[in-house]
Amino acid sequence: MSEKVIVKNIIKIFGSKPKLALKKLQAGWSKEKILKHTGQTVGVNNISFSVTEGEFFVIMGLSGSGKSTLIRCLNLLTKPTSGEIIVDGENIVKYDKNQLRNFRQKKVAMVFQNFGLLTHRTVLANVEYGLEIRNVDKEERRKIAQAALESVGLKGWENKMPNELSGGMQQRVGLARALANDPDILLMDEPFSALDPLIRREMQLELLEIQSKLKKTIIFITHDINEAFRLGDRVVVMKDGEIVQQGTPEEILNHPSDGYIEDFVKSIDRTKVIQVKHIMQKPNALISLKDGVRMAIREMQENSISSVFVVDKNRVLEGIVTIDDCVEAVKNNHFSLKELLRHDYYQAHEDDYIENLLENATKSKYPIVVLDDDQRLLGIIVRTSILSGLLPNNNVNL
Ligand SMILES: Nc1ncnc2c1ncn2[C@@H]1O[C@H](COP(=O)(O)OP(=O)(O)OP(=O)(O)O)[C@@H](O)[C@H]1O
Ligand SMILES: [Mg+2]
Repeated sequence: MSEKVIVKNIIKIFGSKPKLALKKLQAGWSKEKILKHTGQTVGVNNISFSVTEGEFFVIMGLSGSGKSTLIRCLNLLTKPTSGEIIVDGENIVKYDKNQLRNFRQKKVAMVFQNFGLLTHRTVLANVEYGLEIRNVDKEERRKIAQAALESVGLKGWENKMPNELSGGMQQRVGLARALANDPDILLMDEPFSALDPLIRREMQLELLEIQSKLKKTIIFITHDINEAFRLGDRVVVMKDGEIVQQGTPEEILNHPSDGYIEDFVKSIDRTKVIQVKHIMQKPNALISLKDGVRMAIREMQENSISSVFVVDKNRVLEGIVTIDDCVEAVKNNHFSLKELLRHDYYQAHEDDYIENLLENATKSKYPIVVLDDDQRLLGIIVRTSILSGLLPNNNVNL
């Protein structure tokens, strides 16, 4: 996949003497020293990263760490003091007015924490706004705006005013407005922070769904590590204007680069980050119906297990048989497995988070089965692997 956005050594200094502060920064002065002696604030200090096309890229950090400054550099709402931002091979920092207008209208869209809706315009007119600026004709823009509203679940709300909508719905309008322009890149600055936890969760899931359908490149800011790890393909963690660590959630979780990240990671709820695919394992033994009861017993004995899954030749799951049932059957001179099949096991999908498995895992007599959409057995999960997956700093095979 190609690199959509490459950020190279971005520095942003706020104040009236940025060049002076830049020199000091390059000479090795700290952010504090620069503020004390020059009165200039280093907002973002020498940040580099790249984002792949179609990636969900999350920037995380505490308040004041420079997240908004950084994301605003990406559409030049804030102009970096130095550094390059390459989008589709072009350094946008060098854009002239026309190029920049074009870039903002066609390539990027931003969604803000406080929704940023025009209060005197209807929902539909808000979503149409960007198209109007681009002189898209009336009928066309209405059609696009309606489709965008539908894609965020707001069909039927077109003629309401923003203040008639709940926070979650207003942010859906914000999202629809961004999507209406069909940008390649969505910049989202803490879009869900103002929402209550349940709505927020719902919006996160919907955003992931929209992303999987529309394949936008998303750069998303949050100060919530659970949100970052749940959404991000990759995450950068910022502190004092710098990147402390970047990597996949799993890399950061398992190999925190320093004490700062370790403290962050401690607060994470691992059940919300670790997915079934990370902890499922290949079953030691599998049998097919034609193998018969004796073979099933032998497999279980050899592998020291008390039940074994039965699959057909395409690995489609047919059921599970237990050692007790098999032994009983042999006693009764009964050798066909078919009548012994049980189906009282729990199933999971490989993308499920283990938080949704915990209850079933404690109730289940057998391992949980992981099936694909064609009911083929991908793997199994035994209770101990769920529990060990929850321990910090263990190395689940992520
Ligand atoms: N327009 C500005 N003028 C002067 N200083 C600024 C300006 N914008 C941001 N800063 C400073 O830059 C630093 C980074 O701020 P920024 O808003 O990027 O942080 P943030 O990570 O987005 O924080 P929050 O989570 O509170 O939104 C802070 O020290 C801030 O005071
Ligand atoms: Mg901010």
